[in-house]
Formats: sequence, structure tokens, C-alpha cells
Amino acid sequence: MGPALTMFTRHIFALVGFLVLIGASPILGYNVVHEKRSSAPPGWLKREPLEKDAVLPISIALTQRNLDKGYEWLMDVSDPTSSKYGRHWDAASISSAFAPCNDTVDAVRAWLISAGIASERVKQSDSRGWLKFKASVSEAEDLFKTRYHIYEHSETGQQHAACEEYSVPAHMKDKIDFVTPSVHFDVKLRARDTDNLKGSAPKRGPSGGGPKLKNWIDYSDIIKELRDCDKQITTWCLRVLYEFPPGRTANATNSFGIVEYTPEVYVPSDLDLFFKNFSTSQVGERPTLDSIDGGSIEQANMSFTANGESDLDLEYAMSLVYPQKVTLYQVGDEVEGASFNNFLDGIDASYCTYEGGDDPTQDAPYPDPSGGYQGPKDCGKYEPTKVISTSYSSNEHDLTPAYENRQCNEYMKLGLMGVSVLYSSGDYGVAGNPNQCINGAGSDAPSQNGTLGGRFNPSFPGSCPYITSVGATQVKPGVDIMTTKTQQEMACETVIYSGGGFSNVFPLPSYQASAVKGWFKDHPPPYTSEQFNNSQETRGFPDISANGANYVVAVDGKWALLYGTSASSPTLGSILTLINEERFNAGKGSIGFINPVAYAHPEVFNDITEGNNPGCATSGFNATTGWDPVTGLGTPNYRKLLELFLSLAVFEIMNV
Ligand SMILES: *[C@@H]1O[C@H](CO)[C@@H](O)[C@H](O)[C@H]1NC(C)=O
Ligand SMILES: *[C@@H]1O[C@H](CO)[C@@H](O)[C@H](O)[C@H]1NC(C)=O
Ligand SMILES: *[C@@H]1O[C@H](CO)[C@@H](O)[C@H](O)[C@H]1NC(C)=O
Ligand SMILES: *[C@@H]1O[C@H](CO)[C@@H](O)[C@H](O)[C@H]1NC(C)=O
Ligand SMILES: *[C@@H]1O[C@H](CO)[C@@H](O)[C@H](O)[C@H]1NC(C)=O
Ligand SMILES: *[C@@H]1O[C@H](CO)[C@@H](O)[C@H](O)[C@H]1NC(C)=O
Ligand SMILES: *[C@@H]1O[C@H](CO)[C@@H](O)[C@H](O)[C@H]1NC(C)=O
Repeated sequence: MGPALTMFTRHIFALVGFLVLIGASPILGYNVVHEKRSSAPPGWLKREPLEKDAVLPISIALTQRNLDKGYEWLMDVSDPTSSKYGRHWDAASISSAFAPCNDTVDAVRAWLISAGIASERVKQSDSRGWLKFKASVSEAEDLFKTRYHIYEHSETGQQHAACEEYSVPAHMKDKIDFVTPSVHFDVKLRARDTDNLKGSAPKRGPSGGGPKLKNWIDYSDIIKELRDCDKQITTWCLRVLYEFPPGRTANATNSFGIVEYTPEVYVPSDLDLFFKNFSTSQVGERPTLDSIDGGSIEQANMSFTANGESDLDLEYAMSLVYPQKVTLYQVGDEVEGASFNNFLDGIDASYCTYEGGDDPTQDAPYPDPSGGYQGPKDCGKYEPTKVISTSYSSNEHDLTPAYENRQCNEYMKLGLMGVSVLYSSGDYGVAGNPNQCINGAGSDAPSQNGTLGGRFNPSFPGSCPYITSVGATQVKPGVDIMTTKTQQEMACETVIYSGGGFSNVFPLPSYQASAVKGWFKDHPPPYTSEQFNNSQETRGFPDISANGANYVVAVDGKWALLYGTSASSPTLGSILTLINEERFNAGKGSIGFINPVAYAHPEVFNDITEGNNPGCATSGFNATTGWDPVTGLGTPNYRKLLELFLSLAVFEIMNV
């Protein structure tokens, strides 16, 4: 699903004025509802119907082959007891293993032609995974037996084209994953350009997120003593907590990937202000910029909302992995923004909806019809770095299972390629972003204000079993980390609560089955299936946690204390990047998807056993001995992780 369609009418229509509108086509066979939602996600209001002659960029996601084998294949290369551990796949092997079979492609094309969509209008992606064409609203409504409306976000004013349900002929049902635009709301919310001094959630990212600001601080108030790490976190506090030294070597093939979504962008002078105080040899250093779909670091206006997340992520990631490099994936232009799928397209041609980069009119919304970035949509332009951290998240409930499964499977492919994909788990405890819960037991009823109650609302991609979901901890008040060496931290209860819980969509992966079942047995929560799916059959998250409280960050020339799993994810990612460095230097491959190793070796984490993650008018879950849906397995101990990962497999990336 692409970014928000902010432009539906004459403007985009003019761009493809060559389209010939055709009348309603005959209905072949009977139609069955393919996807449906009974209400829009929180904040989205249904407005007028789309004009019939507006043009929609339609994408049909074709059913891929072998996805049922994906889990097993990923375990083969990620399970520490597997004889194939570390034998990651190359991109070409992945593309050929999962491409839809020709029968599927031919059958869907034949249906489109019979319905009046001329063959030459329909393009297929290089991977053969998608069919794409532009259709007028009336064509699309006939084809999918639906009505499109404009939806408007009540806070940002952003517009999005969507329908409540759509149908496909019965004989197409098993050949089509889903269609966009349709019932999905994976759209970029534009940030409001206001300083947020109250600590409430700035809206941004594919569905919001961002660190929370409690207050600005004076330079003179920045602590210089490690014994005060319970009050302020600096790079030195993190090194002491997780026992990792400053980096020593800089293998040119190793870089830590940080993903940011425009208009969130870093301020170069903020990096220098931070470096002057905490990492003097880096003054003047910048991340390598991999611009996707017009992402640029230029900005008109500075504000906490526009700069807080990027400044936080880059100041810490760059300092912690130095002299390793950081690669910044800056996704989307200032006008439209972008979604997770735009990023995935940018690093993996096999996922991309774009036909090889030679038809800039084909793949709206890039070039941006509203006047932003005018280049073609980026597709497979960059190699993925071996560790990628993203501090933005959506709610599982805002998207459909089909859409989430397809994106989740893409993370599985990245894991097969040896990439560790990290996402922050969310900042509202068992509630979703921004403090929203699900209303009632049915999973598609409307969401409601989390202060008042409702069903727990898991985050996405946090609930996808192929990523590492990162929760937040804090140093216990009064603890001096120089003298107290165990149980230094608890679940974060300052300003934010660590996102955690159980998926309503994804099954329990085998790698965490005994940890999750053990938690249910030893710490049965006083809730029923009214609050969350307690079947013990669905994915639990987060997997791991890291400090997410009191980060000292330079933002817009000032110093701020920031909070959130937004901070935890780049910190864990930095540690994993330092471990990859040591493996590369020892002639080994990247660590790749780490969850199977992590759950098999809980002893390399500091178990967190205090604190909870309230939400939805409950006290949430408790951090307990062993894995828990608040802090996962606990926080990393670099020394132990390094020893473990250096003991595993020597295989290099190879063809399969
Ligand atoms: C599927 O189609 C592609 C492109 O048309 C072709 O190169 C390939 O040989 C076909 N595969 C099979 C198994 O027929
Ligand atoms: C640290 O930051 C302050 C601004 O808050 C600046 O005045 C000071 O010069 C910086 N420290 C160094 C060593 O540059
Ligand atoms: C920057 O601020 C100006 C004036 O307030 C406003 O008109 C403009 O839209 C802002 N630009 C962005 C990219 O937010
Ligand atoms: C949620 O409900 C609480 C309690 O009634 C109220 O204070 C708060 O403003 C509400 N938040 C939103 C976003 O409606
Ligand atoms: C958390 O622990 C408290 C104190 O032991 C207990 O009363 C509560 O029921 C526990 N909550 C859950 C969700 O297990
Ligand atoms: C919980 O998940 C299981 C396994 O996916 C499913 O069978 C069950 O229907 C779900 N329960 C609820 C209440 O959604
Ligand atoms: C850097 O890493 C590569 C593998 O990515 C490895 O082949 C090479 O030996 C490493 N270089 C050094 C100096 O360790």
C-alpha cells in the first residue's frame, strides 16, 4: 500500500489523460467479499464519495509461492542448533523461491482483460508479485464491487482513499492476496508543526510514535557522573549498563541502518552539538544518506515534532557504533510522506511494485502528483544494511491480516538474507498508539480511548514473528549502576509504558513457544479473552528491551530529556551492529534474525522482573522472571551476547 492519496481529482487525472474510460463490464461468475472492515481506524472520518472520473493507482498483490515454507527456511538459517545456521540466502534466490507461479499471473490477467482492463494497461513487477494499473474510480468500483470514499484524519487533516469492503470473483480468491487502495490505512500521518512540551504523543510515522519529551534541560544540568544514570541517560550510561566498549574497528562492509519517515528529519547542527559533548571525534560526521522516494534532510521549519525522533536515533546510533558507519534511510518527500512498504520497496526489488524504473507515470504516487518529489518511485535501489532499526509503529488493528501477512513475510525474506530487523514495541503499554484500545471482543469493532478501557491493542510490525520487537526499561530510581550490578533496571514507567502483549493476527512462533507458555503457566494474568487473545496460540511481544527513559538529546539547539521505545530500538541495534563487526572480523557472516538464538539463550540477557505496562484501564502485564509481555527476555549484555554469537557458525552468505 502506498502513501496517502492526497490528490484524487483533475490533477492526477490529467497525468494519465490518455486513459479511455469504458463502461461497466459484465460480471463473470459470482463475487465473494475479499477483505472487509466495519469501521475506519480511530481518527479517520468518512467524507464524500470519490469522483467517478478520478484515477486510482491499483495494485493487486498476487499470491506468492512457498510462503508456507518461509518459517521453516528462516529457522534453518537462524536456529542455533540447525546445521544450516548462518547460511543466509542472496536476493536472487529469494526472488525465485517466492515469486507467484505463472498460472496465477495468467489467470488474474485474464480476469482483468475480460473485465475490460486492456492488457497493455496492466504492468507486472519484476518479481511478478504485483499487477499494477491505473483505473478510474468507476472502473475500480465495478471491478471490485465497492464504493470508494475520501477519509480525512481528524487531527492532521490528511486525506486517504478507501472503501469498507471489496469483492473479487470466487475463482480469483486464492490467487489474490489483496488489492490497494481498499480497506487499508497504512498511510503516513503528517506531523503537526508544534513544539510538544506536555509529553503527549506527537503524531508521525506510518501511524504515529516518536519519543516523548518531558522537559527541556539546561546544559549546566546535564549530568557528568555515571552514578546519576537513574536520572539521565547518556552514551556512557548505556555502555556501563550493557557492558559494551566503544567500537574499535570500522569494517567498511558494516553499517547500521536507521529508518526515518519525512517530514521527520535530523538537524546537522544538533548532531555536532551532541558530538561536542559526548563523542568529540565525530564532530562534522554525518550518516550516509540513502534517500528513498525523495527523502531529503532539508527542512523548512525546526520543531521537536519534526526533529526529535531523527536527532535521538542518529545521535545515539552514530555515537554508540563509532567508528562504524550509520546509514540513514530517509523515506518519502515533504508533501506526501511514505509508509513501511515504500521503505521495503526501496531496499528490495522483489517486493517493489515498480516496473524497473522506466515509466515514471506508471507508479503514482511517486512522482508525487501533489508537487513534491518528481523522480520515479525507488525500487531495490539500496542494499539493506545488516541491522535495521525503525522507531515508528502502527496498530495491528488499523490494517488487515492479509496486508500484515504480506509485509510480515517481507521481514522473513530480510531475515533469510541475514538482516536483523528491529522495531520499537510502542509507548502505551497494552494500549495502541496513541493510547487507543479496541472496542469489544470482535477484532474489527471501532477502537476507543484507552483511558476508558477496551481490548488490548497490539502494535504492528511488533506482532510480526519475523522482526525483533524492542520494549523499554529504565534504571530503577536511586540505583547507582556503578555499585549495583544486578537488577539495575525495571520496566519503563516514566512518561511512557513499554508496548507489549499478544497478537490477534499472528500465530505463536515455535522459537518462543516454551517462553510464552511458561509465562502463562507461572504468571497467569487475571484477564480473560475479553482483554486479549489468551489462547496461548498467538505471538507475544516484545522480544527484548533496552533503556528508554531520560535520554539526553540535542534537539533544535537545545537539550531535552526523551522517553520511549523509540530510544530502545536504536540502542539494541547499535549493540547488534558491534557484534556483527566482531563476527565479520572473525570471518563469519552477519547474525541475521536473532530471535531463535535469543529465546534459546535467555542467559545472555538481564532479566527484568519489576514494573508493568498499564493501558486500557488495566495495570497491564507485570515484568516477571523469564520472558514477559512487557520487557521480553530482558536487556542485552553485550559481553555475553558476543561470546555466544562468536561461538556460532562460520558460514558466509551463499547461494542456495
Ligand atoms: C513463467 O513466465 C516467465 C516470464 O514469462 C518465463 O520466463 C518462465 O519460463 C515461466 N516459467 C514457467 C515455469 O513456465
Ligand atoms: C556542549 O553543549 C553546550 C551547549 O549546550 C555548549 O555550550 C558546549 O560548548 C558543548 N561542549 C563542548 C565541549 O563543546
Ligand atoms: C514552515 O512554516 C511556514 C510558516 O509557518 C509554513 O507556511 C510552512 O508550511 C512550513 N513548512 C513545512 C514543511 O512544515
Ligand atoms: C480520553 O478519556 C479521558 C478520560 O475521560 C479524557 O481525559 C481524555 O481527554 C480522552 N482523550 C481523548 C484523546 O479523547
Ligand atoms: C501483577 O502483580 C501484582 C502484585 O503481585 C498482582 O496483584 C497482579 O495481579 C499482577 N498482574 C498481572 C497482570 O499478572
Ligand atoms: C485467539 O487466537 C486463536 C489462534 O489464532 C484463534 O483460534 C482464536 O479464535 C483467537 N481468539 C479470539 C478471542 O480472537
Ligand atoms: C570485513 O568484513 C568482511 C565480511 O563482511 C570480511 O570478509 C573482511 O575480512 C572484514 N575485514 C576485516 C579487516 O576484518
